[in-house]
Amino acid sequence: MTAPRIAVVGCGYLGAVHAAGMASLGFDTVGIDVDAAKVEALAAGSAPFFEPGLDAMLRGALDAGTLRFQTDAAGVDADVWFVCVGTPQQPGSNAADLTYVDAAVAALVPHLREGMLVVGKSTVPVGTAERLAAIVEPTGARLAWNPEFLREGLAVTDTLAPDRLVYGVRDGDDASVAALDAVYASILERDTPRIVTDYATAELVKVSANAFLATKISFINAIAEVAEASGADVVQLADAIGIDARIGRRFLNSGIGFGGGCLPKDIRAFRARSIELGADEALGFLDEVDRVNQRRRDRMVALVERELVAAGGGSVAMLGLAFKPDSDDVRDSAALEVAMRLAATHDVVAYDPEASAPAARRAPELRIADSLDAALADASVVALGTEWREFRDLDPADVATRTAARVVVDGRNVLDRDAWSAAGFRVVAIGRPD
Ligand code: UGA
Repeated sequence: MTAPRIAVVGCGYLGAVHAAGMASLGFDTVGIDVDAAKVEALAAGSAPFFEPGLDAMLRGALDAGTLRFQTDAAGVDADVWFVCVGTPQQPGSNAADLTYVDAAVAALVPHLREGMLVVGKSTVPVGTAERLAAIVEPTGARLAWNPEFLREGLAVTDTLAPDRLVYGVRDGDDASVAALDAVYASILERDTPRIVTDYATAELVKVSANAFLATKISFINAIAEVAEASGADVVQLADAIGIDARIGRRFLNSGIGFGGGCLPKDIRAFRARSIELGADEALGFLDEVDRVNQRRRDRMVALVERELVAAGGGSVAMLGLAFKPDSDDVRDSAALEVAMRLAATHDVVAYDPEASAPAARRAPELRIADSLDAALADASVVALGTEWREFRDLDPADVATRTAARVVVDGRNVLDRDAWSAAGFRVVAIGRPD
C-alpha cells in the first residue's frame, strides 16, 4: 500500500499534535482549522499553546515539507481524514456539545469519495459514530472511531508512542483496519497493543478510561477528607495502598483535584449520556466524583483563609494557575479557581511559569506577577496550586530570604515538609496533619 495522505480537521491540542506527529512520521499531512490565526501560527512552526516538544516537531515536519496548514479542505486530496475537533461541555447542561464535530463532518462530505476513510478521534458520547457513519457512508467513504489518550504536557510522546491503539469499525471492515494499520505501522512495529472493536465500544473505551482516572483521583481525595478528620496522613496511605499492584500508586496524588479540558467535562457528559440511554443509575457515582473534586477546591480556599487570619492578614502568593504542570491550559483549573475565589475577598498575587496569558484572559481581575519574586515579595501566605518543577525544586532556605511569609499551603502534596520546616516555614498540606 502506498503511504496514505493525511488530513487532520481541527488543530487544537489534539489535532495540532496529531498532524505534527503524522507528518513527523513522513506522511504527507494537511492540518485544517477554521481559525486563521491558529493556522498562521502553526504554519510558522509555533503552536498557539504551550506543549513541550511540539514546536520542534512542527518545525521539523514543516522543514521536511510533509506538513502544511489551511483554513478549509479546498484542494485537499487525502486518503485518511482525522476529525480532531473539540467537544466541550454545553453551556447550562452536562452534555457534550457536538456542534464542532457535526460541522466538521458536514464540511468534509463534499470532499469524500469511495476508498477514503474518515477517522473520529474526538471524545464523543456513545452513539455518535453510528450517527456520523450515516452521513459519511453515502459518499462511498468509510468511518472508523480511533479515540486518543494523549495527556497534555506529554502529548508528543503519547502521540508517537501510545500505550494502545483502539479501532472502532463496522463488523468485517478489513479495509479500514488496513488503512489505520498503514498509518500506525511504525507504532505497531513496537508491539503496541491494538484493539479492533465496534463503534460503541471504541467510544466507551475513551470515556471509561477518563472516568476511571477521575474516580481514582476523587477516591484518594475523599480519603483525604477522612484523613483530615482523623489526623491520618493521606500521602503515606496512598504510598501504602499503591504498593498493591492491583491498585497502583499512579493517579493517587491527593490535593486540590482534577481540572482541565477533559476529565471534568468527560465525566459529566458520560453521566448525561448514560441517563439519555436509560441507564440512569449506572453512573450516579460520577456525580459524587465531581462533588468530591469540587470540595477539595473549597478546602484549599478555607485552609489559605485560615492561615491568612493566623498571619494577621496580608496577601497570598499563589504559585501556579495551570490545571497541571507543563501546560498553559487553565480550562477548569483548580488552581485558577482557588486563586479567583481568594482574590474576591483578599489580596492575591499569582505566578505561573507558562499560563499567565491564558489565565489573564479568563480572569482579567486577577493580579498576575511576571516573576516568582514579584509574587512572593509582599506575601504573608504562600499557596501552591500547580506542582511545576520550578516550584518543587525551590530551595526553601532561599525562599525564606525572598518573602516574609512563614507559612506555605501545599495544595498538591509535593513539597518536602522537613526541608521547608527546617527553613522556618509552617507547612500546611491537604489531607495531612500539620
Ligand atoms: C486526561 C487523560 O489522562 C488522558 O489520558 C486523556 O487522553 C485526556 O485527559 C483527554 O481526554 O484528552 P489531561 O487532561 O492532559 O489527560 O491530564 P491528566 O494528566 O489526566 O490530569 C488531569 C487532572 O488531574 C490535572 O488537573 C491533575 O493535576 C489532576 N491529577 C492527576 C490529580 O489531582 N491527581 C493525580 O494523581 C493525577
